[in-house]
Amino acid sequence: MNWVLAMNIMNTKIALITGAGHRLGAATANRLMDSGWFVFVHVRSSMKPARELLEQAEVRNNRKCGSIVQADLTDDGQLKAMVEEVKNHPAVKANGLSGLVHNASFYSQSKFEETSFESFRNLNRLHMEAPYFLTQQFLPELRATQGSVVGVVDTSWGKAWEGLSHYTSSKAGLRQLMLNLAGELSPDVNVNCVAPGAIMAAEWESEHFTKVLEKVPMGRSGQASDIAAAVQHLLEAPHLSGQVLHVDGGWSIEDA
Ligand SMILES: NC(=O)c1ccc[n+]([C@@H]2O[C@H](COP(=O)([O-])OP(=O)(O)OC[C@H]3O[C@@H](n4cnc5c(N)ncnc54)[C@H](OP(=O)(O)O)[C@@H]3O)[C@@H](O)[C@H]2O)c1
Repeated sequence: MNWVLAMNIMNTKIALITGAGHRLGAATANRLMDSGWFVFVHVRSSMKPARELLEQAEVRNNRKCGSIVQADLTDDGQLKAMVEEVKNHPAVKANGLSGLVHNASFYSQSKFEETSFESFRNLNRLHMEAPYFLTQQFLPELRATQGSVVGVVDTSWGKAWEGLSHYTSSKAGLRQLMLNLAGELSPDVNVNCVAPGAIMAAEWESEHFTKVLEKVPMGRSGQASDIAAAVQHLLEAPHLSGQVLHVDGGWSIEDA
């Protein structure tokens, strides 16, 4: 690392966002980078959009804004290698870690009787095991900054979403993990959740998404920027912990 970069990084808040190559994670990375954070943009496969995201942020802000890390979070070896890479980065060695955002996800619909046990396990790995491991491994760096963890969950809690039990149950696990850790890691580290409602449709669900919007009191989808703002707020609010912030246009107060 050259000395100019070293000087830039001094006193900069550092965040790791999983699944930040595009969509909501990318919007969150952009918002944090534009607010002065240094962001580890984690991707599994979206290297090209992540490079563009970082390049554009660096042009806008005229500084080094982050770094890309790549791992399939369901693969123990890749998960461990990513942890080592982030821990050994000069920015983290200098400043610790102020934010950890568990955003990576895989959302697909399939009938319960047709969903393989392997798919179910992989979602548990992605939504629960990886956040558990990452939070545990980065605890010293988070404690060093009185940092903050955000789990990105959803609005399915207590509902029965057709063909999505594998997805909703693993998100429920993430939510409970975050709330439990909010107590356990207090007062050193804040832990919260953001629960997006209907924000950005997956490719397979455009018809379903339109039906969902009929139930949303505000009658429209949210924007990726709404989620980014909520995550940033929780990362930077020193007296907020153990909260689930629903960003869903009021959907969670309606029936399933
Ligand atoms: N979109 C919505 O309206 C909505 C609604 C409710 C909740 N949410 C939650 O909000 C978060 C962001 O939503 P989104 O729609 O932007 O997410 P997304 O596009 O479905 O997924 C985000 C990223 O997760 C990464 N990912 C998937 N499998 C992975 C694996 N095995 N290892 C590592 N990374 C993996 C992918 O990275 P690569 O592209 O690099 O492969 C992907 O870009 C998610 O947690 C989602 O559950 C979203």
